[in-house]
Amino acid sequence: MGDTRNIDLRFVMFSVISVFLLMERFYVHATLKVGFYNQSCPLVEEIVRSVITKAYYANNPQIAPALIRMHFHDCFVRGCDGSILLDSTPGNTSEKEAIPNQSIRGYEVIDEAKAMVESLCPSTVSCADILAFAARDSTTLTLASKKILYQVAAGRRDGSISLENEVAMNLPSPLFNATQLISNFESKNLTAEDLVVLTGAHSIGVAQCGSFTNRLYNFSNASNTDPTLDPVYAEILEMKCPSNSTNSSIVVALDSLTPKTLDNMFYIGLMNNLGLLSSDQALLTEEFLRILVEMNASNEKLWESKFGEAMVKMGEIEVLSGSDGEIRKNCRIVNSNALVDLAYLRFRSDEVKEEGKQQHQEQHKQSA
Ligand code: HEM
Repeated sequence: MGDTRNIDLRFVMFSVISVFLLMERFYVHATLKVGFYNQSCPLVEEIVRSVITKAYYANNPQIAPALIRMHFHDCFVRGCDGSILLDSTPGNTSEKEAIPNQSIRGYEVIDEAKAMVESLCPSTVSCADILAFAARDSTTLTLASKKILYQVAAGRRDGSISLENEVAMNLPSPLFNATQLISNFESKNLTAEDLVVLTGAHSIGVAQCGSFTNRLYNFSNASNTDPTLDPVYAEILEMKCPSNSTNSSIVVALDSLTPKTLDNMFYIGLMNNLGLLSSDQALLTEEFLRILVEMNASNEKLWESKFGEAMVKMGEIEVLSGSDGEIRKNCRIVNSNALVDLAYLRFRSDEVKEEGKQQHQEQHKQSA
């Protein structure tokens, strides 16, 4: 009897906690909204799309993978709050400077989009939302079908804190094994399936030698090279990346089969020992992850729709909304610093004016 009551009590508690968690999840959904700027800045998505598309076709197709990765790195550190876009200040080294972010590119394209949006709708659209739109537009540009995979719910607000030392502790390392990858994603409310589906972003873009040479040299006591790497592919990689190479301008496609198209060939490559990063290949080391890889490899349409859904979910991580945070005027500077800059500029211009006035009076006196 006592046992039954305990079980009942545990069941009630479990239900209450589940409802609470569900409500919390619903609340996060409810704060962001598709069409959030319909009244306040109806052209924002078109403006962002035109800036990204122009950059992509102006001989800069690498901008697309760069912006998808920038959004991922933004969301995993302090949530999707545009903290990755903040520049360092004299007293603070920002996320940009952390090692995993040193190869992030494309900040100038976000600046361009923000400047155009600001000129039309001042202080209305957050930098975090502009980055989320830009990442979505980048997926559209790199899909073979050029299809819009997903709608971006917006209403994110910008954070004002960006710390270099928070990056490595929040982002997954390319040396992580399956357990570490799963627990990193779970800490961001993403599932193991989201992990497999989102890693499909490695179907485009590149990596520097330092991100995978652990697999090419001194891999283990038994083997110099990672035995799960195709031997011919390993030889090609060794030619490109000699041991101890520190040349960051040498890069290798993450998906050697279709490097420029966002598709499911990344998974087919993985199953053929052509995954580039240890963390990519790690997706084959657990049976249930391997099944997910095989599913994505065998059904491109299914992966596409799951990728869109997972990007939406990733874009909701720990967002600021309502009256939290701010709408930065310049994505690189928090507004209070921008005001300091403005005040300083005004002060300097008053000083310059004063100097000019004095010089003018001096000249006047001398000529009189
Ligand atoms: C699962 C854990 C992940 C790890 C360990 C990881 C790690 C890496 C590393 C090491 C690189 C190469 C960086 C370089 O050498 O310059 C890279 C590139 C890239 N990653 Fe990931 N990543 C992960 C998940 C993701 C996710 C979830 C996304 C997006 C949804 C993503 C998108 C990209 C893209 C698009 C590139 C190419 C960037 C470019 O060409 O500029 N990655 N990733």
